[in-house]
Amino acid sequence: MPEKRVVPVIASLADFESKLSGYLDPNTPLALLLDYDGTLSGIADNPSSTFLTANMKKLLHELAAHPQIFMAIISGRGLRDVQSCLGIKGITYAGNHGLEIEIGDGTRHDYALPAELQRLYTTIVNELTEKLENNGAWVEDKKVSLTFHYRDVADDAAEQYKQAAKAIIESHGFRANQAHMAIEAKPPVNWNKGEAALLILKNQFGEDWAKKIKVIFAGDDTTDEDAMRLLQGTGISFRVSTDPNIETYADFRLARQPVVEDLMAWINNTHN
Ligand SMILES: *[C@@H]1O[C@H](CO)[C@@H](O)[C@H](O)[C@H]1NC(C)=O
Ligand SMILES: [Mg+2]
Repeated sequence: MPEKRVVPVIASLADFESKLSGYLDPNTPLALLLDYDGTLSGIADNPSSTFLTANMKKLLHELAAHPQIFMAIISGRGLRDVQSCLGIKGITYAGNHGLEIEIGDGTRHDYALPAELQRLYTTIVNELTEKLENNGAWVEDKKVSLTFHYRDVADDAAEQYKQAAKAIIESHGFRANQAHMAIEAKPPVNWNKGEAALLILKNQFGEDWAKKIKVIFAGDDTTDEDAMRLLQGTGISFRVSTDPNIETYADFRLARQPVVEDLMAWINNTHN
């Protein structure tokens, strides 16, 4: 059974070369599954001001174009939003924690919410909008999940908005997850970034993908742990975290977000 534990840390390009020497082979296909916020980009106060460094952008474009590399971005953002953040054509994108997936060739895999959950979802959007969309707080409607943002609310009122939003979301049976100055409402379905990662891998490489390819996954958040758990033993996962005591399903901890750029550089080096 996969388990969470404290794992070895990687803090530089040289660490990848020494701790993972021999894992990558330029002649074996590599599936590179990546989170965006806090992983490829730093976390910004406002989600619209995140960006990729020029070098990260260059590395991602080069890796995406490599014939042996298959790239998928799996994000909590809405699908169109994460696509425009990356701007790389022909790769696979999963938005809304995998509820919406668009393969590189344009094929879509949308998780269909049961009608009852869709109805409750609409009720939650309406209730949050009517009662709490004021004083800088706002609702980002992503069609099957939403984010309630309260970062622009006055400091002394933020806690109140947060609790009120959580209460509304949970009263309709949805899950309320803490995000960066925001609450995410997710439908109570057994679908997550891990299920999305498996769907993407099976779709691309077939049921026996694990025998044919190498897999690398990187993420920084609790929602990424679902993918790390399902990939434990078949791929190599990296959890971005500055906390030396964090317990994770990943195989390695990346000491800081910029180390993700070293990860990309290491892959680029081994594939050229
Ligand atoms: C990727 O590797 C190639 C070959 O070594 C190199 O020319 C290129 O500059 C590298 N890309 C980046 C962005 O470092
Ligand atoms: Mg993230």
